[in-house]
Amino acid sequence: MIDFLFGDTRDFELLIVISTENHTTDTHKLSIENNKPTIHIAIADENKAFRAEKIRLSAIKCLNTIRDFEAKTVAIHSSSHDLFPFLEGVLFNSYQFEKNKSKKTEEKRLSFILPEEAQQHVSELMSVFKWVNQCRDWVNEPFNVLNAQELANRMADTSALLGLKATVFEKDQIAAEKMGGLLAVNRGSANPPTFTMIEYKPAKPLNAKPVVFVGKGVVMDTGGYTIKDTPNSMEIMKCDMAGGAIVANTLFAAAEMQLPIWCVSLVPATDNMIGPNALVPGEIISMKGGKTVEVLNSDAEGRLILADALVFAQQFEPGLVIDVATLTGSAIAAIGQEGAVMCTHEAEPFKPLLEEAATLTHERFVELPLWAEFEEEVKSNIADLKNIGTSNYAGAITAAAFLKQFTAYPWVHLDVAGPVYSKSKRKYFTEGASGYGVRLLLAFLKAYSDQLKTKQ
Ligand code: BES
Ligand code: ZN
Ligand code: ZN
Repeated sequence: MIDFLFGDTRDFELLIVISTENHTTDTHKLSIENNKPTIHIAIADENKAFRAEKIRLSAIKCLNTIRDFEAKTVAIHSSSHDLFPFLEGVLFNSYQFEKNKSKKTEEKRLSFILPEEAQQHVSELMSVFKWVNQCRDWVNEPFNVLNAQELANRMADTSALLGLKATVFEKDQIAAEKMGGLLAVNRGSANPPTFTMIEYKPAKPLNAKPVVFVGKGVVMDTGGYTIKDTPNSMEIMKCDMAGGAIVANTLFAAAEMQLPIWCVSLVPATDNMIGPNALVPGEIISMKGGKTVEVLNSDAEGRLILADALVFAQQFEPGLVIDVATLTGSAIAAIGQEGAVMCTHEAEPFKPLLEEAATLTHERFVELPLWAEFEEEVKSNIADLKNIGTSNYAGAITAAAFLKQFTAYPWVHLDVAGPVYSKSKRKYFTEGASGYGVRLLLAFLKAYSDQLKTKQ
């Protein structure tokens, strides 16, 4: 258990000093000063963003030393600029998903002693991590615990706690909405689909048109009849609702912080299973809005449920729609786990804000081009569209090109298949869900609100 105490005068057992100067090399030195273990951290980079990331990473080294000395109270001497990435590293690393273990790891108390002035900022940081951690919990929860209904319940429960309006469509309402993609993917399932809408509308929003987030909520993806045949890939597919967890928890964080930005999150949810009635390759289905899709691969299910939600988003007359999805293995093949793949359409004014948010949080993305040729690849000869590209190339882009056919507003697509989940520990994350996306989108909303404030 990590906690924070304020006031420099308190006693401590271990001291961490982060040098404010630029050094020629990164150093991390342990010495004994005034009878107390003292870690001196110096960072070589002048680049602010790299510096912050190096400090997040150095926090992990420090935690190991703290454990070695069994220190329970640790003071940090640093500039406020370095303190917060350090605490982010600590908070990311102290997350554990143990609710399904009968024997929990013994929780040792660790107190950080921080300057009085840091109090406000630290409490903001802790409330952000509450939502990052809730996102990680939902993603880590296996399918037998978290099905589409349970995901909707959790979103509705948290909304109620925060006084937010949440609406959950059950199967009959989903049918009345003619969400043909969501219904088709759900046909192999023993569990009904859900479609959840959460709205946060502050009293005086700075944006006249809402930001609508759409998150993929596939609570388990077996691939359906196009079953997943890559070794060791199916068992992590409980993470396929990460997009939904990200957009819901981002909205919760924004609401709790009372950001003056009007936003909505939409989460279509189902599992993708095999069953006597399941979708089979070759079927032609009809989506919300009337477009028809030849389903050539039942494992390309995310785009089918997202397409319905993107059409549904239209009724909000959004200023911007951002969809977030663990959409393709191809995004991972392209850039690995260090960031998301982004595609956009008519979203130029928002890109600098997203870039700024990515730099600040180190939750990065790269934009790939939505060239017209890719849109040709998702046209079908016997239906309006097909759900996979003609070639085997650029799968992350053809997936986005498919989604684009259902949008009619400024649009950003984030394929987060790489960074959201990892089978083993990496960087300052523990194994499993990383929480990627919540800090990014929250920082984006903050940057957007700052921009609108200066325009007022
Ligand atoms: N959920 C997967 C994508 C995925 C892969 C997420 C790895 C997280 C980690 C998605 O539904 C999928 O199966 N995509 C297919 C698309 C293909 C059939 C066009 C893929 O990427 O192989
Ligand atoms: Zn799939
Ligand atoms: Zn999937």
